[in-house]
Amino acid sequence: MEHIASYIQEHQQRFINELIELLKIPSVSADSAYSQDVWNCAEAVQKSLQDAGCDVTEICETPGYPVVYGEKIIDVSLPTVLIYGHYDVQPADPLNLWDTEPFDPVIRNTEIHPEGAIFARGACDDKGQMYMHVKAVELMIATNQLPCNVKFMIEGEEEVGSANLSWFIERNHDKLKNDVILISDTGMIAKDVPSITTGLRGLSYVEVEVTGPNRDLHSGLYGGAVANPINILTKMIASLHDENNHITVPGFYDKVEELSAKERAAMAEAPFSLENYKKALDINDVYGEKGYSTNERNSIRPTLDVNGIWGGYIGEGAKTVIASKAYAKISMRLVPDQDWKEITELFQKHFESIAPEAVKVKVKPHHGGQAYVTPIDSMEYQAASKAYEETFGKTPIPQRSGGSIPIVALFEKELQSKTILMGFGLDSDAIHSPNEHFGVWNYLKGIETIPYFFKHFTELSKS
Ligand code: BES
Ligand code: MN
Ligand code: MN
Repeated sequence: MEHIASYIQEHQQRFINELIELLKIPSVSADSAYSQDVWNCAEAVQKSLQDAGCDVTEICETPGYPVVYGEKIIDVSLPTVLIYGHYDVQPADPLNLWDTEPFDPVIRNTEIHPEGAIFARGACDDKGQMYMHVKAVELMIATNQLPCNVKFMIEGEEEVGSANLSWFIERNHDKLKNDVILISDTGMIAKDVPSITTGLRGLSYVEVEVTGPNRDLHSGLYGGAVANPINILTKMIASLHDENNHITVPGFYDKVEELSAKERAAMAEAPFSLENYKKALDINDVYGEKGYSTNERNSIRPTLDVNGIWGGYIGEGAKTVIASKAYAKISMRLVPDQDWKEITELFQKHFESIAPEAVKVKVKPHHGGQAYVTPIDSMEYQAASKAYEETFGKTPIPQRSGGSIPIVALFEKELQSKTILMGFGLDSDAIHSPNEHFGVWNYLKGIETIPYFFKHFTELSKS
């Protein structure tokens, strides 16, 4: 393909400026105070698809935030790549831990990104990575080398569980018809170690509520005589792992896919330094399930984690009180072939069963999704692999990720196509965290690599 590098060279400042404008819109899907901003962001994305050269662009309403759709069909006999991404972002909290404003993007150099990184909520997850595709398509159209058809489906509810995306997909099978789904919403191992994500974990997210007495009580008058819901909740949570850090929910591991020794050996070959890992997180040691390495613990093994816990008095000073209620939000990351609905039920049953008579327990399921794994011998994977070879000069390493994009498993079921996950973020980019950023180098490298996926996918489809 010609002129890719030179087109990027010539337009890179504009590519960066446009992304910065998009990052200024606080499209936080979790918080209804930002509802207008989420809608504004959808419009901005639609306009960017128009500007890139799409023939059709639409804001498609759903029961929630809209899906932005775009397409450029050059020849119905050619294959179609469907690009999925999300324009919504996580809440920016806790604000006081940001060095600069989350919705006032700035470019700063870091040790890992000496070429500069854009600091803003959503810079990497997923506005920056989604926008790489918009610019890659602009580039292919502008230089007259778009080799096949392209469709965009950019949603606004990924960070809150994509509750309405299945609604949209079910009603739009024809519109979304494609030969492969391409997503950049994951990461890669390092800037000089390209990798393709071959797996995502599933998820079951629940909220638990423990109720003791019918009102908050004086902890002197009643303390010792009634159940304290916070004491009980923490004890119940502690019992969910045993001394080997196995999860104690009965049946939890029944369907877990066990990898062969050969597969585990292949995984262990991916470059990884435990020392650097600990240093980057400022921890003296790692912690997790006995018998598994760090990389296995965070990708091929299921987990159970408290994401938040509250109750009682947390204001200034001290208040002597036994709270009436205590709460926690718990996520379980799942692996093939666990079923998220079944796991949610197993958890619910178990959690209710371990509660003492003295309290009442409610388990409220939030959302979830199935895990996903792709084979590396597919034509789709080979096309992606060749694309990285062109722009990194190396064969990318297949790597299963610990994160979740629940809709991916559904794509395969509903649209019968394979998903390829070409992520360009780094673990150190602090997604979902204060000071999220995305390397300018990674952004431009993504824009450069994507067109080669289109080229190789189209060529391999014909052969
Ligand atoms: N882009 C992430 C998922 C991700 C990040 C996968 C890095 C692999 C590597 C996505 O936006 C996300 O945050 N997903 C949520 C799940 C969702 C249901 C809220 C997650 O993984 O917590
Ligand atoms: Mn994401
Ligand atoms: Mn996310």
